Amino acid sequence: MEESVTGVLEGHVSAVIGGTSGIGAAVASLLAEEGAIMVIAGRRQKEGEALAGRLGPDACFVGADVTRESDVAAVVAHAVERYGRLDSLVNSAGVAAMAGHVADVELDELSRMTAVHAGGVLAGIKHAAPVMIGQGSGSIVTVASIGGRLAGWTGHAYSASKAAVLHLTRSAAVDLGEHGVRVNSISPGPVRTGVHAEGAGIDPAVADRTAGALAPAFAAVLQQWQPVRGAATPDDVAPAALWLVSDASRFVNGHDLVVDGGISAGRPLSVGLGELPRLGAALMAATT
Ligand SMILES: NC(=O)c1ccc[n+]([C@@H]2O[C@H](COP(=O)([O-])OP(=O)(O)OC[C@H]3O[C@@H](n4cnc5c(N)ncnc54)[C@H](OP(=O)(O)O)[C@@H]3O)[C@@H](O)[C@H]2O)c1
Repeated sequence: MEESVTGVLEGHVSAVIGGTSGIGAAVASLLAEEGAIMVIAGRRQKEGEALAGRLGPDACFVGADVTRESDVAAVVAHAVERYGRLDSLVNSAGVAAMAGHVADVELDELSRMTAVHAGGVLAGIKHAAPVMIGQGSGSIVTVASIGGRLAGWTGHAYSASKAAVLHLTRSAAVDLGEHGVRVNSISPGPVRTGVHAEGAGIDPAVADRTAGALAPAFAAVLQQWQPVRGAATPDDVAPAALWLVSDASRFVNGHDLVVDGGISAGRPLSVGLGELPRLGAALMAATT
């Protein structure tokens, strides 16, 4: 990753919940590079402590399951007790989903997805809010998904839970914005992380190691859909979080920042142009 280190977050205290791997780990690493004191949270202690160790003495790990409100509250409390404040909270915890027909959906899936994606995020916002209101400043960023905006990209329950998070971002933004606290989201398109293998039932520790191997398959499949070529990595998403937690975005509130290589803007023009000969031939046949 080639990022210019500016120290723009010197003295800034940040918590990344869902920071043990993938996008959350890349965000924690980038924020730490920019000078932030990092609290990394998630369920996997070994991975979380290893990352905190790599980031240095100004980083620590707190075990937390976002489906338990008390765990989320403890992450915020840890930041405040140990470092005296909380300038930003990044909610990146997420679980995988496979696309499938609505007739095959297990209804429990909706509760599971909602508990992590909407419940976990709401708990994070709820417990960070009083601290940030007290400070008169703060930035909360949630990793949502283009699945919350576009249909057909992932499972029904996953999409619905991410759509809920997009609206939760707006509803919290209009509440907390009046107190100097900004709430925004990021919607990535497909990103090479272990979450896809997890969705296929592979153990999370093993799944993380599959992220690199996904690159050729991702790039090939996405050619039809993603104007910017290639397969996104967590390092492509992390700078969006850096911008949203920093003062550079001080007037951005209630926004969803899409990081999808243009998927949600429309299909690549070359795909449409590639269809023209077939349409032309059909027109010729119909008019001669
Ligand atoms: N990869 C993509 O293509 C993509 C696209 C759009 C959006 N996203 C979103 O990006 C976010 C990060 O996913 P990722 O792709 O980086 O996958 P990942 O590497 O599997 O990261 C998921 C993170 O969520 C944490 N997590 C899961 N359940 C949790 C729970 N109950 N409590 C606390 N932490 C929990 C995991 O940590 P522990 O296992 O240690 O708890 C891990 O740190 C998710 O919200 C996902 O929906 C991903």
